[in-house]
Amino acid sequence: MPSFLWDCWPSLEIRAVLCAMGCIQSIGGKGRVFREGITVMDVKASIDPIPTSIDESSSVVLRYRTPHFRASAQVVLPPIPKKETWVVGWIQACSHMEFYNQYGDQGMSSWELPDLQEGKIEAISDSDGVNYPWYGNTTETCTVMGPTKRDSKFIISMNDNFYPSVTWAVPVSESNVARLTNIYRNQSFTTWLVASNTTTNDMIVLHTLHWHMQLSIEVNPTRPLGQRARLREPVTQDQPKILSKNEPIPPNALVKPNANDAQVLMWRPKYGLPLVVIPPKHW
Ligand SMILES: *[C@@H]1O[C@H](CO)[C@@H](O)[C@H](O)[C@H]1NC(C)=O
Ligand SMILES: *[C@@H]1O[C@H](CO)[C@@H](O)[C@H](O)[C@H]1NC(C)=O
Ligand SMILES: *[C@@H]1O[C@H](CO)[C@@H](O)[C@H](O)[C@H]1NC(C)=O
Repeated sequence: MPSFLWDCWPSLEIRAVLCAMGCIQSIGGKGRVFREGITVMDVKASIDPIPTSIDESSSVVLRYRTPHFRASAQVVLPPIPKKETWVVGWIQACSHMEFYNQYGDQGMSSWELPDLQEGKIEAISDSDGVNYPWYGNTTETCTVMGPTKRDSKFIISMNDNFYPSVTWAVPVSESNVARLTNIYRNQSFTTWLVASNTTTNDMIVLHTLHWHMQLSIEVNPTRPLGQRARLREPVTQDQPKILSKNEPIPPNALVKPNANDAQVLMWRPKYGLPLVVIPPKHW
């Protein structure tokens, strides 16, 4: 999710895009030119090469914080002769999610996206839940209102990481005895750099990125707090891929609900029927 404010706005004075924290930067090198003369000078994507950190300070939950995925691009929009508004920014969708917390031989809790799991949809929006279809509206997008006489140059960036809490005890039980033995998470995302003519809703995909986060934490719940969890492979994450051929944006990547609102926490006991622990906020 977006973490700090970095607004962009067009200035009529100089007919360029200004950004509060220095969006205008010298743009060197030759970029790639797309439809409507939109140029992307530089697109970067990485996952911080640090391991996931684990926090055992709470007696109720284990917390972990994964490294950040970061993407940025320098974009040049040519002069817009008409009274049109263009938005350039990042759109992200989750295309695969496995997120299991094992509690010994009692069972596991699991965050699930039913429509994705059942193959009803290809991917689900990872928007902030307000600015659909965009990932956010601070550093993640730039809006340029025509007419403009000069090129509009700007940088748009986004970042994402996971910082969840997992209960030490079985989520559906009255007991607060620590039973958690394992956490497994494997999620894949597609991130698009998109320019959109807001009048037509025409979307031009400029770049497509693939990335995933894989995680395995072994827990010994019988040990004292602070000495229970151990990060297993992969300690460092695979780096994102900037695809050489763009992928189209599936419909559910653009609309409600987003992954946060659609996810369900299930309890899947080893024996017996699964239970919904936390229902989706939105179907
Ligand atoms: C950005 O989105 C927030 C809600 O997340 C909204 O309150 C704010 O007005 C938006 N800002 C702009 C510049 O669109
Ligand atoms: C994560 O899921 C993907 C897609 O199903 C799979 O190809 C990959 O092997 C999984 N990774 C791990 C570490 O299990
Ligand atoms: C943007 O949309 C407007 C309204 O439909 C259209 O007139 C204009 O040609 C579009 N601009 C581009 C560059 O496609």
